[in-house]
Amino acid sequence: MKIAIGSDHVGFELKPVIIDYLKELGHEVKDFGTFSNERTDYPIYGQKVAEKVASKEFDLGIVICGTGVGISLAANKVPGIRAVVCSEPYTAKLSREHNNTNILAFGSRVVGPDLAKMIVKEWLSASFFGGRHARRVDELKAIEDQNTDEFEEIRKSTSDKYIDKG
Ligand code: RB5
Repeated sequence: MKIAIGSDHVGFELKPVIIDYLKELGHEVKDFGTFSNERTDYPIYGQKVAEKVASKEFDLGIVICGTGVGISLAANKVPGIRAVVCSEPYTAKLSREHNNTNILAFGSRVVGPDLAKMIVKEWLSASFFGGRHARRVDELKAIEDQNTDEFEEIRKSTSDKYIDKG
């Protein structure tokens, strides 16, 4: 997969560890900064990575700041993005299966390199279940679009898309 990665200055030291790990797993990775530990603002990198994922130039994104919170909030402001902040692998896995997250965030002040790698691995190994979960993700999109009619239509829809296959 093509993965976009970014961090602020607090996530800067953990980022190369994750880049190397992603490459080891066979993924293509591009770093969208920051490129030094000079103090900067997490919204810059959250937005950059999110735009690359929203435009489909990259399949998925990974963002790192001190807690993962600020940079995930920034990413989630970009339409089409579902970013999750995780400090353990279980949430990472379910966030893909149930919520079809396309950006993973974590905090370098919260998780160490080994735990971060476990989170990344679980997140990348999981895939979206669809079915009833697709209805909920489509409802999220309707909220994002501020389209209450669309929300109601999805809620009432009997489309096959929303029937569990497994
Ligand atoms: C920067 O000090 C810190 O606020 C940032 O890395 C992040 O943790 C914010 O959510």
